[in-house]
Amino acid sequence: MGRPKITVVGAGNVGATCAHWAAARELADVVLVDVVEGMPQGKALDLMQARPIFGFNVEVVGANDYAATKDSQIVIITAGIARKPGMSREDLINTNKNIVASVTKEVVAQSPEAILIIVSNPLDAMCYVAYKVSGFPPRRVMGMAGILDTARFRCFIAMELGVAVEEIQSMVLGGHGDEMVPLVSYTTVSGVPLADLLPAAVINALVDRTRKGGGEIVSLLKTGSAFYAPAAAAVQMAEAILKDQNRLMPVSAYLTGEYGLKDLFFGVPVILGDQGIETILALKLSQDEEAMLKKSAAAVANTRDALKM
Ligand SMILES: NC(=O)c1ccc[n+]([C@@H]2O[C@H](COP(=O)([O-])OP(=O)(O)OC[C@H]3O[C@@H](n4cnc5c(N)ncnc54)[C@H](O)[C@@H]3O)[C@@H](O)[C@H]2O)c1
Repeated sequence: MGRPKITVVGAGNVGATCAHWAAARELADVVLVDVVEGMPQGKALDLMQARPIFGFNVEVVGANDYAATKDSQIVIITAGIARKPGMSREDLINTNKNIVASVTKEVVAQSPEAILIIVSNPLDAMCYVAYKVSGFPPRRVMGMAGILDTARFRCFIAMELGVAVEEIQSMVLGGHGDEMVPLVSYTTVSGVPLADLLPAAVINALVDRTRKGGGEIVSLLKTGSAFYAPAAAAVQMAEAILKDQNRLMPVSAYLTGEYGLKDLFFGVPVILGDQGIETILALKLSQDEEAMLKKSAAAVANTRDALKM
């Protein structure tokens, strides 16, 4: 029995960092694929040379074609262009639609049983592209967004309260855009409701900062967008699947009536295990939260419609 295999398509900032986190955690062998010649091979070799220092024993290979990706259990798709300052995720739609469609065709031909984790933006729309092109069942196609958005919210709350990040439990649902819905009613600090610890105005400011969390980093970096936390989130999903952890996580999943929504990918709480999305959980939401979720769903549906698929 060999080691499992994770393919990461797009060896840019997010993709290479996914390879880094996944290899360092010895989750699987990793294949990094990119269209730029030499770049994935160079990054893979560099990671291989880090192994004696930190002592992780997995193989990392780089490639410009898909032969080495054969029979991957997980494929993380990060190929595409990243947002530039002032650019919305939706601006990316057409370029990344073509890239994600062509990449999906290639990976599916090599790994018909894989589980696809999409990272490319606009996220929920790119999941739709991969779902349509792959022909995979919905449980095997999902997007990474909610874990990252929730991690940002948890991080900001921990910074505000001066407590360890692990104490903060929360859930951010909805589309991966400025209309995302951080669920304050489900946010606790070691079980203590957040609303008991911070005034509403401060909580609202943290919610707002979370919604704009990606943009804040884009403005600081000037070129490119966030990658350490996005890659960590994608690798956490891969780990939950490979280790059949049955973790409860917010993930962009294909909805067939859940939350009153149909035929779109949207951030909802799911149980993630070796079958992929094993269950989608229905949460009881406040009227405010439901209204916000509807608004977010309308934005995601618009982007899906713009795909014309
Ligand atoms: N879902 C999220 O929360 C989230 C977070 C961060 C970034 N992103 C998105 O992830 C994507 C990657 O971001 P990044 O910062 O790594 O960008 P990047 O520019 O550093 O890397 C993208 C890589 O994709 C490669 N690529 C382009 N077309 C390709 C193709 N057809 N086949 C294989 N590789 C191809 C490029 O050569 C490049 O190396 C962007 O769309 C970005 O918006 C999403």
